[in-house]
Amino acid sequence: MQSLYSNGFETIYDAMYQTFIDYELEYEFYSSILKKYKKKQILEIGSGTGNLAQHFIKNNYNYSGLDYSIDMVNLSKSKNPKGTFINGDMTNFSLEEPSESIIITGRTTSYLLNNIDIHNTLKSITKNLTKEGLLCFDFIDASRFFKQIKGGVLIEHKAAFNGKNYYRDSFLNTNTSNNFMFNWDSKYYEINKNNSRLIAQDNSEVRAFTKNEWELFLLLNDFELIEFIDKKSYAFDTYVVVAKKMA
Ligand SMILES: C[S@@+](CC[C@H](N)C(=O)[O-])C[C@H]1O[C@@H](n2cnc3c(N)ncnc32)[C@H](O)[C@@H]1O
Repeated sequence: MQSLYSNGFETIYDAMYQTFIDYELEYEFYSSILKKYKKKQILEIGSGTGNLAQHFIKNNYNYSGLDYSIDMVNLSKSKNPKGTFINGDMTNFSLEEPSESIIITGRTTSYLLNNIDIHNTLKSITKNLTKEGLLCFDFIDASRFFKQIKGGVLIEHKAAFNGKNYYRDSFLNTNTSNNFMFNWDSKYYEINKNNSRLIAQDNSEVRAFTKNEWELFLLLNDFELIEFIDKKSYAFDTYVVVAKKMA
C-alpha cells in the first residue's frame, strides 16, 4: 500500500484534499444517485479521512466506510465518532451484513493495478451487496487523460487550510509497464513566510481505464451497467459508473 496514506501523512492529506475536493458537492452527486435507486444503506470503499462520510452520517444514511490504511481509518473515526469505519482491502473484504449499495470514491479504483485485483474486488463486492444492490464508482479516463499527460506534465495545486498554506507539485507521465498506467510523482510543501518546506513526497504508479474495459469487467462479473456519467473533477478526466448486481 502507498506510504502516502499513513505515518502522519493522513493529516496532510486531510487538510489538502478538503481544499481540492468539494465534499458537499460530492455528497450531493452520490446521494442523488442513491435516492434515484432508493438506497439508504451504503458502504464507501476508499473512505479516506471520512470527509464524505460526515455528510452521509449527517443526512441519516446507514453509512460504513472501508479503507486499507489504518491511519486513515483512525482519523475518520476521530472526526466522525458516530460513523462505522472498517480497516480492510477492497480486493477481499467481508461485512457483517450485506449492503444495499457500495460506492468507491476519489478514484480509489486507480489502485487496482492488475486485472486479478479488479475481478477479486468485483467478487468481494458481489458477496457484500444485497440482491439487486447498487455499485457506483469513479475512474480516471485514460482516453482523455493520457492525451494531456503524454510526454510528462507538471501540475501545481495550492491549498489553504486552518491558517496554513500548502502546495503540491505533481509530475504525471504515462508509462508502458502494464495496462494503462501512469506515474504520479508528487511533492507536498508547506509555505512559510520566507520559504517553502517539503513535508511529504510520493512516487506512485497508478492506473487509468477506458470505458470499454469497465464494460467488460462488469459483464464478466455479472453486473448490469446502467450508465457512465462524465464527472468534473479537480485534476483528472473522470467517469462515474452506475451498475447493478444482477439478481
Ligand atoms: C485518493 S484516496 C481517496 C480518499 C477519499 N475517497 C477522498 O475522496 O478523499 C484513496 C484511498 O483509497 C484507499 N485504498 C487504496 N487501496 C485500497 C484497497 N485495496 N482497499 C481499500 N482502500 C484502499 C487509500 O488508503 C486512500 O484512503
